[in-house]
Order: sequence, then C-alpha cells, then structure tokens
Amino acid sequence: MDSSWYKPFKIKVVEPIRLIPRAERERKLKEAGYNLFNLRSADIYIDLLTDSGTGAMSQAQWAAIMEGDEAYAGSRSFALFHETVREITGFPYILPTHQGRAAEHVLFSCALEPGKYVLSNTFFDTTRANVIARGCRPVDFPIPEALDPESDRPFKGNMDVDALRSFVAEKRAEAIAMIVLTITNNTMAGQPVSLANVRAVSEIARAHGIPLFVDACRHAENSFFIREWESGYAEKSPLEISREVFSLADGCIMSAKKDGLGNIGGFLAMRDEALFVRCRERLILVEGFPTYGGLAGRDLAALSVGLREALEIDYLRDRVGQVRWLAERLRGEGIPIYWPPGGHAVYVDAGKLLPHVPPYQFPGQALACALYLEAGIRACEVGAAMLGEEARFQFVRLAIPRRVYTREHLEAVVTALIRIAGKREEIQGMRLVAGEGPLRHFLARFEPIED
Ligand code: F0G
Repeated sequence: MDSSWYKPFKIKVVEPIRLIPRAERERKLKEAGYNLFNLRSADIYIDLLTDSGTGAMSQAQWAAIMEGDEAYAGSRSFALFHETVREITGFPYILPTHQGRAAEHVLFSCALEPGKYVLSNTFFDTTRANVIARGCRPVDFPIPEALDPESDRPFKGNMDVDALRSFVAEKRAEAIAMIVLTITNNTMAGQPVSLANVRAVSEIARAHGIPLFVDACRHAENSFFIREWESGYAEKSPLEISREVFSLADGCIMSAKKDGLGNIGGFLAMRDEALFVRCRERLILVEGFPTYGGLAGRDLAALSVGLREALEIDYLRDRVGQVRWLAERLRGEGIPIYWPPGGHAVYVDAGKLLPHVPPYQFPGQALACALYLEAGIRACEVGAAMLGEEARFQFVRLAIPRRVYTREHLEAVVTALIRIAGKREEIQGMRLVAGEGPLRHFLARFEPIED
C-alpha cells in the first residue's frame, strides 16, 4: 500500500461541527472586529488557529485520566510524569507547569540577570515577551536562507552559528545570560533544526559558559525531520534522537500542549541543582507545589502517555505527512507558501497572494478573514498585525491540530484557498482601529478598507 494512505488510528469519539451560512459568517466577523480570536468556536467549521492544546487524546490517555491521582503532594501521576520526562530528556530536575509560558516565566525569573542579552534561532512571541519582562534583551539569529520562503533546503530553522560566534566575541560572554534554541522554529514557519546545528550551538555555549536551553514544544516533530534528512539518523528512533538533542543542552522548557499531546500542561527541566532549587521556590509562588505545578493529577497522567505517543514513528509519519500533503496540494495549485513545510503548520504567503494589499494594510489579516468568509475556516495571521513593522513576512498560518482532521477537511481548505486566489482582486486591505503593544493581535479590532 502507498504509505501516504496509512493512518495509524481510527475515530472512536466524534465532535459535531457545522458551517454556518455565509450571511451569518459576515455578521459574526464584523461583530468580532475582523479579529478571528474574537470568534466563538461554535461559529467555526475548521479551526486551524493553533496546534496548541487542540489535539485529540488517545484511548490510552483517556484511560490514564481515570487513574489520575489528585493528591496535593507526591502523587502517583507526578511520579509517572517525572519518569517519562526524565527518560525523554535525560534531565534530572523537572518541574511541571500549567503551560509553556509559565515554564518560561519561572526559568527566566530565576536564571536571567536583568540587562543581559538572551539569544535564539528565533524566539516565540511569549518567550520573547518573558525575556523582555525580565529586563533582558532578546536577539534572534535565523540563518539567512530562512528569510527566503522559496529556498528549498533542509533545516531552515537552524541558528546562524557564524553570527552567534561574532556576537559572543563582540559583546563578551558575560553580557549573555542564555541561549534558547526553539525546536521546531515556530516563528520561522515551523522549520526544523538539525542535530549538527544543535551541536555547533552547544559547543559555542559550553566554550563560553553560557547556559543553553531548548524550547522543546515540538521536539518530536523536529526529531522526525532529523531522522529523515540528516545522514546517520535513519535507523535511530525519534526518542533516541530527542535524547541526543537534550544531551547537548543544560535544560529545556516545554509546552506539552504540542508534542505532549495534552490539552494543557508544560514543564521545565535542567541539570543545575542550584538553579532548580530557585525555580522550585518560584514555582510554589506562581504555579503550585512542585509535584503538580498548576496541573491536576489527571493532566499529568495524560501527559505521561502523550509524551511517549508523540515519539512513535507511525504517529510522526502521519502527523508530518499530513502537513506535507496539505503543503504539496496548495503548492500544486499555485498558492504561494513557505517552502519546505515544517512540522505543524503550512504558512501561506499572503503578501504574494494579495500583491495589491501593502503590508501596512495587513494582507495576512485580510486573507485570514477571507478564508473565514469563504468556508468558515479559522487561521492565524503571522505578519504585520502580530509582529508590527518588524514582520519579515505576511503569513497566514494554517496550524494543524494533532489527530483531529481528515484529508477531507484539509481538501476543504485547499478548495477555499483556490476560490480566494481566483477572486483575489476583490479582497480589500484592513485598517487597525484598536489595539497596541507586542501582544495586540489577540485583542485588536480591524475594519476593511472600502475603495
Ligand atoms: N514556545 C513555542 C515555540 C510555542 O510555539 C509556544 C506556543 C510557546 C512557547 C508557549 O507555550 O502556549 O503553552 O504557553 N505556541 C502556540 C502557538 C500558542 O499557537 O504556536 P504555551
């Protein structure tokens, strides 16, 4: 059988969805201030806003939930969670949190000295905001090829090692508090990072005594790409590859809402005992006792199973394969997308699809609204609305929830985008009428610009 048709699960529980009529979609969108975050999910047919916390759990995860131990301290579910994270990451000191940004907050408030630089391949928006909130200066070092959405090369999520080396030499190691490697690199179109790159960054970090942390939300997808693309890894399991990645770092932060296959959850893990002791104290203040950290015992139990399932090769082949299938279909239809596709999403280049809409009229926002009007599909703008004038691209991210949608659903997305491309001149730009600050896109309001 053609492996592209292999699906390693079948459906046991279904959630009804429906497409509301176009006139209603027009009204709802207007009421939402043309911001898709303001829509109710009941008014959405296919929701590709994020892959975070939106996945379907397996029967093994639901069974684990029933066995969740809700003891305040020392629960059995925490012991299982700890053992799983320890096995995957190899880090001895582990603290659960309610999601990724809480792990960032706890780690940065204990590990970063205000005024210093924190370097990354590219920071995710909450990670960057947490660095700034600590009084530090985030700096991104993507490789130059990543800035070309069409350059067909592997591992466009890599950190620019030469630029990193020069920066460390110029500013001196004392001025740099930490290096954070985001794998996969969400803000850079979900591109993976190679093991060779992790190793090179790790060597620089170790040579200068700079702590290296991995932002590991999508480490399993990243390991799948290493297995496929990097020589010497084809026979290794994703678990072995992830372990090798973590062995090169001093710790990690993780949103388990992605490759933990959970609807909520996260953690931080590290080797340094003194840092752990500080983080543990902080955790009690902002999240909870160290054996639950903002989660119910049942959440920890579900994550203990989900973190392992996300590393299964059949699961990953299906997962990354589904994203790739959508990307190839869209590219085949002439829809401009970031190439090659990453692990969790397809990024449509709205700047290219709508060349008549200049960046200051938010082509990504215009396209995301058009997609909702056309077929009730919700996607996420990653361009001038989210990132302001610093936006390098005008993307609309089609993030694929894990184990949720079928090929038919994705075919509806392709059809909608083909229709929109066919009448692109009719799509108007947007004007921002309310919203400011680095996280403005969550609450901003827009208006279409009438000619
Ligand atoms: N780091 C990365 C790379 C992320 O993609 C996210 C979340 C976080 C940290 C924060 O984790 O949401 O659990 O607090 N990304 C989601 C997204 C929200 O849609 O890409 P969190």
